[in-house]
Amino acid sequence: MPSIAQSQRMKHLGLKIAVLNFSGNVGKTTLARHLLRPRLPQAAFISIETINADGQEELLVKGSDYARVQEEVLVKDAVIVDVGGSNTEQFFSGMRHYPGSHEDYDLFITPCVEGLKQQQDTLRCVKALAALGVPANKICVVFNLVARKRNWATVFDPLLNFVRDEGLCRAEIMASVQKSDVLSRLHGQPDTVASILNDSRDYKTELMRSHTAETTLELAEKFALQIMAKDTQENLDAVFQALVKKSGLPRNSNYGIPPNL
Ligand SMILES: Nc1ncnc2c1ncn2[C@@H]1O[C@H](COP(=O)(O)OP(=O)(O)O)[C@@H](O)[C@H]1O
Ligand SMILES: [Mg+2]
Repeated sequence: MPSIAQSQRMKHLGLKIAVLNFSGNVGKTTLARHLLRPRLPQAAFISIETINADGQEELLVKGSDYARVQEEVLVKDAVIVDVGGSNTEQFFSGMRHYPGSHEDYDLFITPCVEGLKQQQDTLRCVKALAALGVPANKICVVFNLVARKRNWATVFDPLLNFVRDEGLCRAEIMASVQKSDVLSRLHGQPDTVASILNDSRDYKTELMRSHTAETTLELAEKFALQIMAKDTQENLDAVFQALVKKSGLPRNSNYGIPPNL
């Protein structure tokens, strides 16, 4: 009999997740690479991208080649699919063309940021998934680029009302991805939050010994990144836990939104 920790681990390793939204720049690639990939180390990573490829892709597939994506999703035990914004329509066409293919996924993550257009695109994406027959517990909106002192209820009002009224998805509002300088610095880079944390160089001491303005600035930036990476890692850990912990809808059916919001 596997222990609870082992079975949790097996469950995590077996996840098949697609990250998608009609909007660009909402953090699909960031969440796929820095929230999901390090926590699903066995997962194959598929990028459906045509225009924004940055050389960090493991397997790059065109949106028009849905069959190739589907093949990977079927044969692998765990996959993360990062659907580029401009490929989302084609991804949906593919899912319609292969009825039932959405059932191969355990989770669809739709990152959302606070702009009205991005919230509307998120609703559109959730509705399109629901129209294919994806149940609410498998669709999760993840709020991204959230400033710490934001007034949630005001900023995300359109989306929260939609989630409450339609009940087509989860919105783990208490597990939102904060705006992080670490994540923005990692954009297009091979480094990870963990590699920053594991960097054993003592930037503080080096900084105190530094004599040129240029090195001082570089060392100060690296030192600051190391300090901030801890917060970012803790935030991402909490979000991941919230995403994978539920196999069904929350018991009180509030779709992840606390009653006081
Ligand atoms: N939580 C975050 N904190 C800081 N910057 C972020 C965060 N999420 C995304 N970004 C930045 O926003 C930009 C767009 O993110 P990206 O993941 O490329 O979006 P998408 O894949 O949806 O187009 C990138 O520069 C990325 O570094
Ligand atoms: Mg992207």
